[in-house]
Parts: sequence; C-alpha cells; structure tokens
Amino acid sequence: MNDFSDLKGKVAAITGGSGIIGMTLVRGLCAAGVNVIILDVKPERGEVTAAEMAARPDCGMATGIGADVTDRESLLKARDQIREKFGSLDILVNCAGGNKSTATTAKEFISGNEKDLKGSFFDLDIEGFDGVFDLNFKGTVLPTMILAEDMVKKGSGSVLNISSMNAYRPLTKIPAYSAAKAAINNFTQWLAVHFAPAGVRVNAIAPGFLLTNQNRFLLTDEQTGEMTPRGKKIIAATPMGRYAEPEELVGTMLYLLSDTSSFVTGVVIPVDGGFSAYSGV
Ligand SMILES: NC(=O)c1ccc[n+]([C@@H]2O[C@H](COP(=O)([O-])OP(=O)(O)OC[C@H]3O[C@@H](n4cnc5c(N)ncnc54)[C@H](O)[C@@H]3O)[C@@H](O)[C@H]2O)c1
Repeated sequence: MNDFSDLKGKVAAITGGSGIIGMTLVRGLCAAGVNVIILDVKPERGEVTAAEMAARPDCGMATGIGADVTDRESLLKARDQIREKFGSLDILVNCAGGNKSTATTAKEFISGNEKDLKGSFFDLDIEGFDGVFDLNFKGTVLPTMILAEDMVKKGSGSVLNISSMNAYRPLTKIPAYSAAKAAINNFTQWLAVHFAPAGVRVNAIAPGFLLTNQNRFLLTDEQTGEMTPRGKKIIAATPMGRYAEPEELVGTMLYLLSDTSSFVTGVVIPVDGGFSAYSGV
C-alpha cells in the first residue's frame, strides 16, 4: 500500500476539531474520503467546516457534536450518538489542547533576588496546572478510554495524538503545557504497546510553531505587525526560517492513520521545520 486509499469510507472522530489545526485536519481527512465527527466544546464552528465539506461531493462528510474532552458523561453521550449514526469508529484524533495564562510565568528567568520572584514560578496558580493537565493530558486519555474501545473490540483502528515541540525541551514560561505534552508522548508509547496485540496503532505528531489566533499577539506586535522578541527567537531556532502552515500537518496525519504506516506504532513525528534537530549552533 503506497497511497492513502484505504482511508476512504472510514469513520474518524477528532477532538478540538473546530480549532485552527483541528479544522485543517478535518478538511484533510474528508479529502481522503473519511467521514469525520468533530467533537468540540464549540461544535457550531465545526459545522462551518461540515457545510464546506458537504458542498464538495468528492469528500467524506463532516458533522459536529458538542463534547468536552475533560468530562466523562459528555464523552459517553457523544459515543452513543456516534454508535447510533455511524457504527464504530476507525480513527480517533486527539487534537483538543492548549495553554492557560494562569499556568504561564511572566518572566523567563529569575535572579534569586526576592523582588524578582513576582511573575515567576512562585507566582503561579496550581489550579492553572490542573486546568492545563486536564485539557491536554486527561483530555487525551479520557476520549481514548471511551472512544477507542470499539476499535479494540473489532481488532483494527488508529489513534493519533497531537503533541508539541514543548514535549522534548520545554519552552520558557509554560511549564504546565510543556509537561502535559511530554506526558502525551509518554502515553502514546505506553498505549501503543498496550494496544499492539489488538491491532490498534497509536502515534502522535509534534507540530512546530504555527501562528494562530491564540499566540499571534505573543509572537507579533499588534500595532506594527513586527515579530516580538519571542517570535524572533522561534524563527531563529527553526532552520526553515518560518512558521508552519496547518496544512503541513495533513500529510503526516494521513501517513500515520493509513495502512501506509501499518507497522508503525508508538512514534511521535516532529513536523517542525528542523526545530527539534537544531542545537542553535
Ligand atoms: N498552534 C500551535 O502553534 C500548536 C503547536 C503545537 C501543538 N499544538 C496543539 O495542537 C492542538 C490544536 O491547537 P490549535 O492551535 O488548533 O488550538 P485552537 O485553540 O485553535 O483549537 C483548540 C480547539 O479545542 C477546543 N476545545 C478546548 N477545550 C476543549 C474541551 N474541553 N473539550 C473539547 N474541545 C475543546 C476549542 O474549542 C478549539 O476548537 C492543541 O493540542 C495544541 O496544543 C498547537
């Protein structure tokens, strides 16, 4: 098998499918003939993508269902709706995730001077850590626990987690997000081993840096449109010298979900313009 044609007619659920990356992955899946259920706390935004796909007869269909990845009841309801309308899932993409300001330090470094502790690690809110771990880590484990059971029972399927560059080496200011994404890499390996005899593969993509609505004003100056010092650092650390486009994740996703990668499980593939390979020298 050297194309993605085995994906045609498969049924996929994608959490966070209404987001910037999520909606691009939905379009990529539908274009490969997959029928996609968008699970998101904002399903109405997913419906826009669904309408777009409905207008393209060459694509699989998409539909939005409201679901919160941190809430068991909400996921069980979504699973019942999926079973009723689509039968069992073949694919689960865990894409819901993100950082929170309450788990972000204002400062990159501290000098040890007492006055300098404001805005540092010591000023962080432990509830912020809980929130980030809930959304990213629990928000990957719980949907998998609830939605991958049918795949295991039928002996085939594929799970794809969305990690981050932070998983390998943490970025300054965002300790909870970095640790939660590292936990996703570890969990990807653990679950790949656990599911391997059952014929269900588990892999992940670690995207490099995208300019999205969430981080645009951290990385570019709102007034001038110029890159901020943090934005400049990211580009300097990315050998390809630019941000990723969400569309650049689609090929790796299709590869990992299709039979093209039938003997690949437990891997995390960076799609990062060389960021993770570059020592900076
Ligand atoms: N943007 C980047 O540069 C970047 C880089 C690496 C990894 N990522 C990861 O990619 C994924 C998508 O990021 P994005 O930039 O598209 O973010 P986004 O904020 O555009 O999308 C996230 C989506 O998740 C949904 N969501 C939030 N909480 C939810 C919950 N509890 N239950 C269900 N859905 C929920 C939101 O409504 C939104 O539609 C995240 O896991 C993120 O950590 C992003």
